[in-house]
Amino acid sequence: MEATATTLWKNRKFDGIAAYTRAAAPAWLQEIVQPLFRDAMFARLRRRTGRRFVKAADLACGVGDWSVRYLEIARRVVGVDINPEFLAAARAAATRSKRAASLELIEANLVEYDGLDGADFVALGACLQCLDDHEVERVVSRASAALRPSRGVLYVRTSVVTPLRTPYEESDGFYRDRTTYEELFERHGFRVLDAAYSATVVAEHLAQDWLLCESPPTRAAVSATIAVPARLARVLKRENDFCNWILERRA
Ligand SMILES: C[S@@+](CC[C@H](N)C(=O)[O-])C[C@H]1O[C@@H](n2cnc3c(N)ncnc32)[C@H](O)[C@@H]1O
Repeated sequence: MEATATTLWKNRKFDGIAAYTRAAAPAWLQEIVQPLFRDAMFARLRRRTGRRFVKAADLACGVGDWSVRYLEIARRVVGVDINPEFLAAARAAATRSKRAASLELIEANLVEYDGLDGADFVALGACLQCLDDHEVERVVSRASAALRPSRGVLYVRTSVVTPLRTPYEESDGFYRDRTTYEELFERHGFRVLDAAYSATVVAEHLAQDWLLCESPPTRAAVSATIAVPARLARVLKRENDFCNWILERRA
């Protein structure tokens, strides 16, 4: 099999649940920051879309921690991933959910997956960087074809290069800039409802839902105080950042 970013994900062996994430982030970060980020992102998805979905497709669902949460905003969820080990962990996580029967987990290459019919919410979480340009076009075009204009929502979270770096390619993925993704969404008929780096998502959640800052200027000042240093550190250290887009299919 030709070695590509995708086959690497399929063939790499992981030592039990999420050895990958253990390697990528220290335990305290996983236990505190990642659940906080998910809470923040769900609060944001609810605010920006303001509705419950019929069918959510979580493409590249990994160990299923997002798929299980999508059950909060969708009646039915389909999680798709290429890695059987991750899917086994996702199945185990699903059994702990009261709504496990509404979650289906499928082993497939998301580039080939053609089960988006009836989906009104599609998530592409931290996976577009695993796909080459041709594959990314194909996946976003399929999502666009499946989602109904003015109703369907696409949520994308992906790694982007910060301003002091130029886009690059490594054995594990393709690191593009934010503009490249935004042009892609535009080309495939999506309108940006919301775009924010992950640190901003968390900072705005803390300001609004934890610190209960009521007026928009106070909220903006408090969240900027938290998010700007985080963003600046990434830019100066030439690290990639994660950008989150909530997109709606244009009429
Ligand atoms: C960084 S993890 C992200 C998991 C999860 N979506 C999240 O947001 O935490 C990337 C996932 O993409 C999956 N993946 C990579 N290429 C894929 C492909 N072509 N088809 C399906 N899944 C793929 C990997 O197996 C892995 O679970």
